[in-house]
Amino acid sequence: MNSDNEIAGDLTAIPHLLPATPAHPSTVAGYAGLVRTLSADRASWAPLVRYDPVSRWYHRLRTGPGYEVWLLSWLPGQGSGRHDHGASSGVFGVLEGELTEHGRSARGLTSGDVRVFAPGYVHEVVNDGLEPAVSVHVYFPGLTEMPMHCSVGRAEARDALAR
Ligand SMILES: [Fe+2]
Repeated sequence: MNSDNEIAGDLTAIPHLLPATPAHPSTVAGYAGLVRTLSADRASWAPLVRYDPVSRWYHRLRTGPGYEVWLLSWLPGQGSGRHDHGASSGVFGVLEGELTEHGRSARGLTSGDVRVFAPGYVHEVVNDGLEPAVSVHVYFPGLTEMPMHCSVGRAEARDALAR
């Protein structure tokens, strides 16, 4: 006997003994997996995307027990403003294009990148590239508020004007 497979057999060969795949994610890893699954399934979201020159466009893609999934589009120059997510945690990922997340520092995000945040996390997301971008956002529990914060740039400008 040299391996677990020799002792216990190959568990993947007997699928009736494997735990059932849950219909809905319930962990941060599960929500990140949902973002990655959607990212890989372009046909499920690409026909839904719209671009609105007035403001970011968003569409609730699905809901489940304790979570909701939003699809967002960002034309060049569009951004979220600096905000938090109330009591919600979240996972988001870029599906197409590039976005910049401004938290404590600036972070470029491209297709396939996934970010996770807890309640109280403050950030600003901007498409400061030259091409449109698409992202998917999972909030758990569902987003009920998105308090806006003064952006760092604006706060610095205000402080400079006050001097
Ligand atoms: Fe956000």
